[in-house]
Amino acid sequence: MKLAYAVLLLPTTLYAQILGADSDIDQLVAQMDTSEKYSIVNGVGWISRKQQSGYYIGNEPAVDRLGIPSIKMQDAAQGFRTTDERIIGEVTAWPCSLGVASAWDVDLMEDWGHALGKEHRAKGANMILGPSVNVHRVAKGGRNAEYLSGESPKLGEEMARSYVRGVQEEGVMAVVKHFALNNQENDRNTIDSHADERTMQEVYYPPFKAAVDEGVASFMCSYNLVNGTHSCGNEDLLVRDLKERMGFEGFVMSDWWAVNEVGYQNAGLDMDMPGDDGYFSSDNLDASDDGRIDDMVTRVLTQMKKVGLLGTDDQPAAFPNLCDIPGDCDDLFYNATATSAAHEALALSIATQSVALLKNEDDVLPISGAKTIAVVGSACDASNNISAMLKVWDLGNYYVMGGSGRVIAEDPVSIVRGLQEGAGDTITIVESTTDDLDQALAAMENADVVLTCGATTSTEGHDRASLLVDQDDFITQLVEAATIPSVVLLNTPGATVISNFSGKASAVLNMFLGGQATGTAWSNIIYGVESPSGKLPVTFPLSEEDAVEPCSSSPCTYDEKLEVGWRGLVEKDVDFPFGHGLSYTNFDYEVKSKDGLKFELNVENTGKSAGREVVQLYVTYPVAEDAPPVELKGFKKTGVLEPGQSELLEFDISPDDLRSWSTNAGDFVAVSGDFQFDFASSSRDVRVSDTVTV
Ligand code: BGC
Repeated sequence: MKLAYAVLLLPTTLYAQILGADSDIDQLVAQMDTSEKYSIVNGVGWISRKQQSGYYIGNEPAVDRLGIPSIKMQDAAQGFRTTDERIIGEVTAWPCSLGVASAWDVDLMEDWGHALGKEHRAKGANMILGPSVNVHRVAKGGRNAEYLSGESPKLGEEMARSYVRGVQEEGVMAVVKHFALNNQENDRNTIDSHADERTMQEVYYPPFKAAVDEGVASFMCSYNLVNGTHSCGNEDLLVRDLKERMGFEGFVMSDWWAVNEVGYQNAGLDMDMPGDDGYFSSDNLDASDDGRIDDMVTRVLTQMKKVGLLGTDDQPAAFPNLCDIPGDCDDLFYNATATSAAHEALALSIATQSVALLKNEDDVLPISGAKTIAVVGSACDASNNISAMLKVWDLGNYYVMGGSGRVIAEDPVSIVRGLQEGAGDTITIVESTTDDLDQALAAMENADVVLTCGATTSTEGHDRASLLVDQDDFITQLVEAATIPSVVLLNTPGATVISNFSGKASAVLNMFLGGQATGTAWSNIIYGVESPSGKLPVTFPLSEEDAVEPCSSSPCTYDEKLEVGWRGLVEKDVDFPFGHGLSYTNFDYEVKSKDGLKFELNVENTGKSAGREVVQLYVTYPVAEDAPPVELKGFKKTGVLEPGQSELLEFDISPDDLRSWSTNAGDFVAVSGDFQFDFASSSRDVRVSDTVTV
């Protein structure tokens, strides 16, 4: 039912009063009867855990009488989820969210947000079930590929903000997830994550808080328990921490079937999804605390209005409703083409910019001139078995992750295809795309350089069994045997252990699961069309023992407290540190001016080719017993700098960023003393330091 029709049903003046006045949402809610109110806080479209034809992954019905359109939700982590075969190819299979974050470019993340918003709208959806922002605690975490914070609350803050802004400016509500402490997939429904308040506030909440500050429409509470209580029925989490302390004015929806008992609405849950569990039945909602139902409904409608989904007869909705479920959306959902040449180009650009060059001995890369390249190994020609994937929702491959974030690519470009297509006239490629060492050595006989590929995937529902790539043995033997320079290209879903071969290889590069443009992006980097400019948002440790394992029993106590990810490894050797990523050129840093907490830093390209640099600011707190470990507090990416060209980057740190959580005060409190500011090219490559007294 369309808004225009609803408008006809209301006397014009009344309608204008309802939606035009300041307290318009209050007035609209006052017009609703109880069943209408109940209908928009409980999902429809699922029966006995089966999604019904003609419905999205998540659905709230329209209230026709009042011109309130339906809410139509779809995942998220690599684009518009391909829940039906017909959708494949109609939407872009983007790089995974962690890949987008690994470009460390807030503008690029915002561009992606806009593109996601546009594709969701083109498919009739007005809500995206993203961003996924949990800070990685467990290196093997099955969903780390979609968690855009990597190991850093600060990276997560910046990326979450840009994503939410981009998506919501397209008239699509964003849902930040999974709140909270959803750091592993094994036993995700029963694991009880225990963390102290300071750890939650300083490590795990910041990306969520940034989304609140950016006006995110919704939060998704997670499957796990937090400090003894399931997240979706956890009043401390949803009311005290989220709605009161963070000031969240939007609505909290449950993860799918994450409601385990009646009464969660009285603990802060505003919407039960997907709605077929009976917990938000009329009888159960009748038992809500006074005023709660109106609060829940107000929260939903306020967010719809804010992103432009509700209009008045005087002022139409900025983003008019395109269709309503069920039935009316089928054509868009199944048949509309949402991808475009512009989105394909953006997917390629993101994948290219996501690549981190981990090592490059003797400048073996980029490859140019008359060369013969051996491309060896099965992962260089990764398959994309669509029919197998359609049968199993949590099957990933080397292009896309498994689970609800999956967007099956119709015809992803394999690495070898990308390299062939980009080779030009002077480069000859000899391929052997199996993991047979003899065949690989034969292919290498007359080659100048060998490229091999390592990959692994991951999925929602369980954690990775190993941090190695699936071809670890083959690559290790190959680089041992190679008498020509060897280059290893990795497609991974998160932190990976590559120490068996990284020492011997001449060059190593990482791209997180790269979506449809994988091979073309590799070609851009390998042939030097672009210099690599991505940085690792996670640590590549020397061994699995250096990483936190998923818990196998509850409670799962976060003993490492603030020393999460790279911050827990500062005293240890690692293979490749957090923030690391080289370029084909070099950069010099110089502090040009300093005014309180404001720095201007000049970055000059002192090398021989064009490139971009990500400057990272690491801050060490004044010495004190309870001082937090060194932390990333800011980062800036330059534009493309030609040789000899410079750019002035401004770092304007807010005093709020230098506070620390006080459990006694129940708030962040100022810390005074000498702070060390390190401007760095990675967490272990500091270029310029200064001291700031606060
Ligand atoms: C996932 C959510 C997702 C939902 C709907 C759940 O299994 O945890 O992230 O949005 O399904 O697909």
